Amino acid sequence: MTSSLKGKKIVLGVSGGIACYKAVELLRLLVKEGARVFVVMSRNAKKFVTPLTFEALSRNPVYHKVFDSADSASMEHIRAAEAADLLVVAPATAGTLGKMAHGLTDDALSTLFVAFRGPVLVAPAMNDGMYDNPAVRANIETMQSRGIGFIDPEVGSLACGVVGLGRLAEPEKILAAVRDRLARAWDLAGRQFLITAGPTREFLDPVRYISNPSSGKMGYAVAEAARDRGAQVTLISGPTPLKPPPGMRVFACKTAQEMRTLVLDHLASTEILVMTAAVGDFAPEQVQKEKIKKQGDEPIQIRLLPTPDILREVAKSKTGQFVVGFAAETENLVESAREKLLKKDLDMIVANDVSAPGIGFQSDTNQVTFLDRSGTVEQLPLLSKREIAHRLLDRIAAKLSSNPQTGS
Ligand code: C5P
Repeated sequence: MTSSLKGKKIVLGVSGGIACYKAVELLRLLVKEGARVFVVMSRNAKKFVTPLTFEALSRNPVYHKVFDSADSASMEHIRAAEAADLLVVAPATAGTLGKMAHGLTDDALSTLFVAFRGPVLVAPAMNDGMYDNPAVRANIETMQSRGIGFIDPEVGSLACGVVGLGRLAEPEKILAAVRDRLARAWDLAGRQFLITAGPTREFLDPVRYISNPSSGKMGYAVAEAARDRGAQVTLISGPTPLKPPPGMRVFACKTAQEMRTLVLDHLASTEILVMTAAVGDFAPEQVQKEKIKKQGDEPIQIRLLPTPDILREVAKSKTGQFVVGFAAETENLVESAREKLLKKDLDMIVANDVSAPGIGFQSDTNQVTFLDRSGTVEQLPLLSKREIAHRLLDRIAAKLSSNPQTGS
């Protein structure tokens, strides 16, 4: 059977806690799957399991001392570890998390983490009180904001004798997260993405507005997928019930005008702009200061003016950014989208027929067509928004690698 980890180089970081015994089991599973594993231990981990155990199971030297310049053989292994496909830290104690969050180096694990440039997964293990501590929570959030993935601990009996949240996830679960992470590309590392999502609200008065049913799901999926592939993401979101995703900067706005200001403010530091937001095309000419009163059965008239077209403004001030628009259409899908691609001077447009059932607004699935400037039209099947996001990023990554000038 071909294994998904065959040929992968993985660094297993072990910090000191009773859960170290599960790291031994995790190592065994990784090796069984065909991975080449290098173990690196924190100073305290050695009090729980000896390096020899990990060495015997990994058949590689274990890195547990900070590098000694006289030892060129271990230097070679440290270099190999730094170039691994993934670093998984399991168990990660509160102390190790703190060091990782702040870039402090005082042992082999913390030193290797700071030098490591690939994707990192962390499986915390500690007592429930520690896991709940605001300092630990803040450290986890800091690391998440840098794109580090977490495998949450589970509820169970802890070393301190109580039952609570803090027990290291089971090795099989960590293995599944490792597989999942390695299955994903890490091809957008360091790329600066600006992504808009959700609807806008155009207010008539303080309590009423014109909007659309956009859920924000597509834009959030693109933002999360880009983050998971190593990009630095700024998400500008209209009002949605979705939680701000960890690992990115999120700015909230309501109106098209506010979204415009945020997009233009961030444009200079952006390499790739993905305008997923369903920006309102019209806004009341005036927002009434007070709630509009009913005048018996008399109709009321509201004059609507076009909102600023953000993408057309971007077209005027962009300096090499790769720009992707979305087009929700109810007729002549491809022709209308192609027209928008040219009119808004986009590099790509994602068109979807919002009149078809089960796709578009609100739904978790969508059926879209990609169009680009070279005239390529690619119709995708019905897919989850997450999968569409990854397919879109595949196209963007391919275009960026064939045009290194983009975003410079
Ligand atoms: O013209 P239409 O609204 O169909 O264009 C859709 C695309 O244009 C989307 O990418 C949307 O985010 C963007 N848009 C914009 N400013 C507007 C309206 C739409 O940037 N005022």
